[in-house]
Amino acid sequence: MNIKKYQLPGSIVENKVEEHSVIIKFNKGVLKIQCINSNCLHVTYNKKGEFLNIPSFAVVKKPKSVDMEIEELSDNIVIKTDKLKVVVEKNGKINFYDIKGNLICEDDNGFILEQDKIECRRIINKCDHIYGLGEKSGYLDKKGEKYLMWNKDNPTRIHTDPLYKSIPLMFSFNPDKCYGIFVDKTCKVWFDFSEEIEGSYSFAVDDFEMDFYFIYGSDLKQLIHEFTNLTGKMYLPPKWALGYQQCRWSYKSEQEVKEIANNFRKKNIPCDVIYLDIDYMNEYRVFTWDDYSFPESEKMINDLKEKGYQVVIIIDPGVKADPEYNIYREGLDRDLFCKYITGDIYHGEVWPGKAAFPDFTKKEVRQWWGEKHKDLFKIGVAGIWNDMNEPSDLSTDDKTVSEDIIMENEGNPRTFRHYNNSYGFNMCRATLEGFNLFKPQTRPFILSRSTYAGGQRLSAAWTGDNSSTWEHMALAVPKLMNIGLSGISFAGVDVGGFGGNATPELFARWMQFGVFTPFFRGHSARKTKFHEPWKFGKEVEDICRKYIKLRYQLLPYNYNEFFKSSTDGLPIMRPLVLEYPEDESVHNINDQYLYGESIMVAPVLKPSICKRKVYLPEGHWYDFWTDERIRGGKYILVDTPLYKLPVYIKENSIIPMIEDMNYVDEKDVDCLRLHIYFDQNQKYSYTLYEDDGISKEYLKEQYSLTKFELKMIENKIVFQIIPEKKIIKRTGINTRLHCILLKRRSSRLIVVIKLLIKLIKKIKL
Ligand code: GLC
Repeated sequence: MNIKKYQLPGSIVENKVEEHSVIIKFNKGVLKIQCINSNCLHVTYNKKGEFLNIPSFAVVKKPKSVDMEIEELSDNIVIKTDKLKVVVEKNGKINFYDIKGNLICEDDNGFILEQDKIECRRIINKCDHIYGLGEKSGYLDKKGEKYLMWNKDNPTRIHTDPLYKSIPLMFSFNPDKCYGIFVDKTCKVWFDFSEEIEGSYSFAVDDFEMDFYFIYGSDLKQLIHEFTNLTGKMYLPPKWALGYQQCRWSYKSEQEVKEIANNFRKKNIPCDVIYLDIDYMNEYRVFTWDDYSFPESEKMINDLKEKGYQVVIIIDPGVKADPEYNIYREGLDRDLFCKYITGDIYHGEVWPGKAAFPDFTKKEVRQWWGEKHKDLFKIGVAGIWNDMNEPSDLSTDDKTVSEDIIMENEGNPRTFRHYNNSYGFNMCRATLEGFNLFKPQTRPFILSRSTYAGGQRLSAAWTGDNSSTWEHMALAVPKLMNIGLSGISFAGVDVGGFGGNATPELFARWMQFGVFTPFFRGHSARKTKFHEPWKFGKEVEDICRKYIKLRYQLLPYNYNEFFKSSTDGLPIMRPLVLEYPEDESVHNINDQYLYGESIMVAPVLKPSICKRKVYLPEGHWYDFWTDERIRGGKYILVDTPLYKLPVYIKENSIIPMIEDMNYVDEKDVDCLRLHIYFDQNQKYSYTLYEDDGISKEYLKEQYSLTKFELKMIENKIVFQIIPEKKIIKRTGINTRLHCILLKRRSSRLIVVIKLLIKLIKKIKL
């Protein structure tokens, strides 16, 4: 047995009440419980007796004035909101109850103080499931596993722990009660659900201050809602970012990029974005171009724009240590790089060789970095891909920078040991400054490999370097579901696999699955076989075309889901447990999920499979391809020839679709088809969100909401279009004249809305 040396805080010495909080002093250390709102409490314990008071990177919500009652009894202190009761025992144990007195989360030990670590151990029941934790390998349910939050590169591409992102958030769930714990620390945070000590789990921080939020709610949806209220919602991306995106390390010249772009059009495969990986730069110096291979970058970008492509380029944080290089020199002159306590600049090794790392916790650095994007945006670059920002240092054994380097953080200097997990997040803040400065009217598009809790406010995320194997595709399903539950909706994986060579079968299956992931990008590493959709023979090319087109046909549905996620914080790619919490069969389903509220996707994740089983929860479902109506509440066995991705639609859903296009908004939509999965007795409604898809005007209410409603009245179908909100400057569906056609296709009803007036103005930003 592992015997640890530890202490406990002792007993309560004194307590006092401050605005929204109670401060309780123990023999050892001090505890603060702050009320964020009636469902969310902030718990901070500092073993040295004085709070650090370092502002959180993640949390944007300020405590609200809610009534908080505090009562001091002989053996404990009781704090009540109108939803929660917290009992702090004299020995430091903290138990959370609902207001009716039901125990929700029970402390096992109080704060356990080890040398450089504080641990909290809580009771777990057999029926509890654990979800969340952001980007982690393994199953959807994290019970039985141990995880570490410590952002780092993973060049071996083995799916180990830790990985690139840290979201120290867990949800404990069973159908009767659930809660969330968000440990707001950017140092190492351990979660241990391995049940080594029967009946309890723990979370621990590598610091002398523990800082966590206890989140209460009636279901998982409410917990996510609370968490994203605390840490912010995803911004609505430009609509083109929902299209298919093509990447490779690297398309090495203007010529090659143009060929790729032309091929998509020639082969009638939709695509919106082309990425430039590190080879566009002059010897990997960020914010430069290789004049030999990309002599006319501006012209190339504009030519691509004419053809409907956006160009996104990679930016790494490592600045080449070259005295002749202006960015490095400026960094040195203005004291912008991370340093040791001695004042010496830390140099690591990244693609350009020896490199220094900007200290993005400094405001001045974020501003400087943001300004450096000026020329890129001037020549038409549409989005920025932030990579290697854990940050990766290839010169060290574990590929991370030294823990001893200092980050200044606006007068709160601490080492990387404490701030490591914030590096990528703060780099994205710097990039966002660039967008706000030089493209103030356009929605930003940032893609980041590393991030921290709250990262949904800044960027989309992809899961870094995977491999072209069936295991890695299968791992992506629970991983993306948990990233979504942890607040980051706009996420995806390298479709086709980054390292290694996909087989035609794997590539076709991965493309089908990728269509139903929020961020949809094909990417592959140098020295691997090319992975563009036409590289695997005619059959696979046809499959890719068909499914990528489907992504474009479903754009109104998809965009609507993005809009909803940007307001309610719920993931787009969601585990079945989110919608069917009572159904035990779905509590750890790892190979199927819902895309938005109505579409069930069951990707084929193994080779040579001609059938797979699919679980359909209670209610009725429609086979998307055949319209067959199937009773749920059971497993079904489905044929899965290579051309088929099993997709099912929930009865009573309306799925809006349009004609496919080469790229998003290539043409004005003049016909919207509503596919209504129909049961005679029901009333249906669906609210469609529309805006210009590119500007920030939607934040000033420049959008429209249109409700479609269908009812049966005396055997007649009555269909109505009800404007819920009309767009003011530009026209949405509800302000354009239309004619309506109804078509019946077995149990599906199709309402075809033909729009008779063109959009007034299409904007180009
Ligand atoms: C990293 C990234 C990968 C990129 C490569 C070269 O491995 O994760 O996506 O292609 O660096 O820039």
